[in-house]
Amino acid sequence: MVEFQSKIKTIEWVGTFSRMVDQTKFPYEFSFVDIKSGDDMFDAIRTMIVRGAPAIGVAGAHGIVLYAQELQAKNLSREDFVKALLEKADYMATSRPTAVNLMWAVEKQKEVIKNSTSDIDGLVEELRQNGVKLEKEDVEINKKIGDYGAEVVPKGATILTHCNAGALATVGYGTALGVVRSAYAKDNTVQVFADETRPRQQGARITTLELTMDGIPTTLITDGMCSYFMKKGMIDMVCVGADRIAANGDAANKIGTYTVAIAAKYHNVPFYVAAPLSTIDTSIASGDEIVIEERSREEVTHINGKIICAPEVNVINPGFDVTPAELITGIITEVGILRPDYKKSIAEAFKK
Ligand code: MRU
Repeated sequence: MVEFQSKIKTIEWVGTFSRMVDQTKFPYEFSFVDIKSGDDMFDAIRTMIVRGAPAIGVAGAHGIVLYAQELQAKNLSREDFVKALLEKADYMATSRPTAVNLMWAVEKQKEVIKNSTSDIDGLVEELRQNGVKLEKEDVEINKKIGDYGAEVVPKGATILTHCNAGALATVGYGTALGVVRSAYAKDNTVQVFADETRPRQQGARITTLELTMDGIPTTLITDGMCSYFMKKGMIDMVCVGADRIAANGDAANKIGTYTVAIAAKYHNVPFYVAAPLSTIDTSIASGDEIVIEERSREEVTHINGKIICAPEVNVINPGFDVTPAELITGIITEVGILRPDYKKSIAEAFKK
């Protein structure tokens, strides 16, 4: 088992490269990988060395700096440099399809490229500075989300969470687990039930590590158990993260979240989504428009490299599902908790 401290940055720009915690190794090893090229960043996002919506947003922004540094060495004209870099930026945005934070961060870097009047060296420096800025802002935003969220956590609550929306899904502190951290700081009788989160077990491998290393009481359950514990009255609220939220409040998150939301509604358990405004995609009217990532069959057929089923069985492996807005009690953001009607509250949040 590794020693996890939530103060560690999941991803950080270091001089000329990006350093990140390798999340494929949990819980056996805690190690960092230095990503030094744009293509390596694309692969790090795709293979989930770095994962979680806000973290892959920052990774994408860093990836564009890496591509910019590579093109800088090629002695291109400024016009050719900008054209090539914008193409690389669009490519980076395709490394994973569901979390809109990736496209959002890429767009932020594209704005820098388009608005800059500097020479190539100056532009590369501006992109670096913007990458570091996005990194810093992420932690500040998560702390705000945590503080707003803590206000709706009942005293002594047991909070159910799904997947990992923690420090390791962001640069630090976390969104849903940021709410847990802020609530626990005020009331140390708060505890967490963590869904295992098949197939990649982010709940078991990552959430339980993060929380127990911070001393927050955590109980691991398998994905099918949530309604059992809700019926027994053992869950006081659900708090999860999101990968993309539509303008009407429909929220995509790790596969299995929708099932938890239905169970919560049936048992009258409040269901909160904690996410920064950068996770809200106001360009889409509803969750029907969210692209759901399809992942490999091996994630389902194997655990730790060992097959767990008939080898030739059919497999379907969508990485995410969409929880309809009507099942969501509130969306906890850095500007406050948004309530239904989400079409209105989301539009107002963006005006702020
Ligand atoms: O496939 P992953 O591990 O990147 O999925 C992560 C999630 O679904 C998280 O809940 C979501 O990104 C929110 S992270 C603050």
